[in-house]
Amino acid sequence: MKVAILALIFASAFVAADLWSSCGDSSDVLKIGKIIVSPNPPVAGKPITVEGAGLFRSDVTSGTIYAEVSVDDLPLINLTLPLCSTVKKFRPCPFLKGQQSLKLAVPIPSAVPSGEYVAKVQVFDQNNARVTCVTGKKRIFLVEAEVWINDEHLIFEVSVLMSAKEKLKMWGGSEELPPREIPLKRPYMARFRSQHAEFRIPELRSLAQMFGFLEHLDYGTEQAKLVSQRREELPTSPYLPIACPSQKQIEQVASRSVSLMSFFDLIAVGDTFEELLENISHYPQDKLQALAGNGRTFKYHVDSYGRKMPHAEQLVLMERLTNINGAWESGNIDLKNPQETWTIFVDYGVAKNRPMDDPRRYYLGRKICNTPVDLIEVYNVKKRNYIGTTSMDSELSLMMANQALARSGTIAMDPFAGTGSLLLTCAHFGSMVMGSDIDQRMFRGWGEGKDLKSNFKQYGIENKYIDVIVADNSHTPYRTVPFIDALVADPPYGIRAGARKIGKKRKTILREQKLGITNAHRRSNHIIQCINYAVSDVLHDLLNLAATRLVVGGRLVYWLPTTDQYKDSDLPLHPCLRIISNSEQPLTMRWRRRLITMEKFTEYIPSVHDNLSPEEYGQINLSDDSHGNLKNYWLRIGSNGGPPKEKKGKRKGKGETEGETAEEETAEGEGEEDEEEVAEVEGVEQ
Ligand SMILES: C[S@@+](CC[C@H](N)C(=O)[O-])C[C@H]1O[C@@H](n2cnc3c(N)ncnc32)[C@H](O)[C@@H]1O
Repeated sequence: MKVAILALIFASAFVAADLWSSCGDSSDVLKIGKIIVSPNPPVAGKPITVEGAGLFRSDVTSGTIYAEVSVDDLPLINLTLPLCSTVKKFRPCPFLKGQQSLKLAVPIPSAVPSGEYVAKVQVFDQNNARVTCVTGKKRIFLVEAEVWINDEHLIFEVSVLMSAKEKLKMWGGSEELPPREIPLKRPYMARFRSQHAEFRIPELRSLAQMFGFLEHLDYGTEQAKLVSQRREELPTSPYLPIACPSQKQIEQVASRSVSLMSFFDLIAVGDTFEELLENISHYPQDKLQALAGNGRTFKYHVDSYGRKMPHAEQLVLMERLTNINGAWESGNIDLKNPQETWTIFVDYGVAKNRPMDDPRRYYLGRKICNTPVDLIEVYNVKKRNYIGTTSMDSELSLMMANQALARSGTIAMDPFAGTGSLLLTCAHFGSMVMGSDIDQRMFRGWGEGKDLKSNFKQYGIENKYIDVIVADNSHTPYRTVPFIDALVADPPYGIRAGARKIGKKRKTILREQKLGITNAHRRSNHIIQCINYAVSDVLHDLLNLAATRLVVGGRLVYWLPTTDQYKDSDLPLHPCLRIISNSEQPLTMRWRRRLITMEKFTEYIPSVHDNLSPEEYGQINLSDDSHGNLKNYWLRIGSNGGPPKEKKGKRKGKGETEGETAEEETAEGEGEEDEEEVAEVEGVEQ
C-alpha cells in the first residue's frame, strides 16, 4: 500500500501533472519540472514508464509522506510513510539540492474501474519543511502494481489519474466500462474478543465467503490496502483494520461471528497519539462534523490492549481529541444512550508476555455495530438440557459452524455426534442436521426430555433436526453419493472418549476357530464386539467420508490433537480435499489441538481414488517416525480431544510405572483391551 501511494504520488504528479493543482507555495523545496511518459496515452495491459525531473532547492536526506485519498467524500486512504524507505527501490535518498530525476514503471492491467477521487499528497523533509504538496480531483482508475520493498515482492492496487478523454483513448474510444469492476473498499476496524486469537481470521474469511465478498476483503496482512499492520501483530492484537466494499457486508459478518465484538468505521490511525490527531484532521471535516457535531449525542471510549490504561490517562486522550478538532464541540455527551460511540484504540501490544511501555499504535473508530446476540451464552452447555462429559463448548461449536458455512438450504452432519453440540450450532445457523455415533447411549441420554433431541427443542430448532443413527464410522452406512454440505466432528481420539470400532477380539477369533464357528455375527443371539480404533484409521475414515459424501465446495471441520512440536506434515490429506485453515488452540504448555477446515474441491472418482496408496493419499503413517509427535499424542490423549493430565508422581500398584498419565490409568482401570491383543475383522456387519 505504501508503495501504491508512492506510485500514486509520482504517477499522478509526473504522469498527469495537468490533472493536478499545487496546494503548495513558492517556499516548497521541490519545483516539479519536465515529465516524459511512455506510452502516452497509457495503454491497457502495458506498463507505463515515467521519467520525471524537478528542482530541489535544498538537500532532502529524509522525511515523511502524507497521503490521503477519498472517494465520493468517503475517506479511502490516510497514510503517513517514511520518505526514504518508501522510495528506496526507485531512487535511494538523499535528493540533493539541484536538478533531480526519477524513473519508474507502473503496470496497467487490462481491466480497471473508475471513480471520482480526491487526493492530496504532501511531502515534508528532515526539518519538517514542505517539499511539495499536490491535490487532484479527477477520475482515477485502480490498477495493479508490482513493487519490491526490502526484496519482498508485493502486488498492490494503485491509482492512476486519467481524464475522461484519456480514458476514452485508453479504451479504444469506447465509453463502455472495462469488463470487471474492482469495487471500492472502505476502511473498518474489527474489534475481536481476546480469546482464541488464531480462529479470528479463519472465521472472518469463512463468513466473507458465505456472504460473497471474500475476494474483496483485505485485512492486516501484507495485502492490507488501507493500513499497514505488521504480520506478527496479528495473532494477539484484537484490533484488526480491514477493508471491504460495504457496511452491509460488515453487518452480515457481525450477525454471525463469535470471534468478533464490534465493528467500527476506521477514521484514522497513528503510531503516536500526535500522529493520530494529525491524521484525524485529514479526514473530510464536513463529514466528521455531520457525525460528531450538529447536536448529535455521543460518548468517547478508550479501549486499550496489552496494558490497562488508567482512567486519568484516558481522560487526557479524550480531552486532546476534543480540543484538536471543533467537530465534537457542537455535540452533546450522553454516556447512557449516545447516537455515536467514538473509540480510541490504544494498542500496547504484548512483548514476551509483558506489555510494552508505550503504545505501538492508536486508532480512532466510530462504532457501527456490535454482534447482535451473545450466542456463546445462549448455547452455554451449563444451561443445556442434556450434556455429556465430551459435549463441546458453545464458543468453539459456533466457530465450527461458521467455518463449516452452515446456513439455510444446506445439510450438516456429525459422524461422531455424541450429545449433538456441533449439530445444534449448525442448526442454529439454518442447516438441516443429522448425525451418527457408535454409542446409542449418547443419543438416549437420561431418557425422553433429557436426550439429544430434547436439546433441539430447548433452542426451538427441532425443525432443523433430521435424525441421528447408531453407526460405526469405520463401516459408514451412508449412501456413497455427495449429499452433505458440511461435516463437523470432534473425533474420538481419546481412550475415554471411546475410540472404538466394530471388530472381534483376537481371543474371540481363536475361540471360534477352535469351536469351528463360522459367521457367528449372523446368529440371532450375536453380540457385537468393539476393538480399539487406531487414530490413523479414525482420520482416514473421516477424510474418506468427506471426500465421498460432501458435495464439491462442501467443508469438513474437525479437531486434531497434537503437541507443541506440531509440523504441517502431521496433517492428514486427501486428493479431493484442500486445507482452508488450521488454527491452534493451546491447552497446556505442551498439548495443543488444532481446528482443521478442509474443502472438497473436486469430485471423488472411484476408479481414480479408490485404489490410491497411503502415500498418494498423503495419509499419516503412524509407524513412520516422522509422525512420532502425533503418535506420541494419540497414544496418550485424554478425553474429548483434550490433553492427557500432566504426569503424576509415582503410583502404587502392580505394573504401573512412574510417569504414566492419568488417562492410561483410567484406560487400564476400565479394563480396555490392549492394542496388541485385538484384531479387526474385515466385513463385520453392523
Ligand atoms: C469426542 S466425542 C464427540 C462429542 C460430541 N461432539 C458432543 O458434543 O457431545 C466422540 C464421540 O465419538 C463416538 N465414537 C467413538 N467411536 C466411534 C465410531 N467408531 N463411530 C462413530 N462414533 C464413534 C463416541 O461414542 C463419542 O460420542
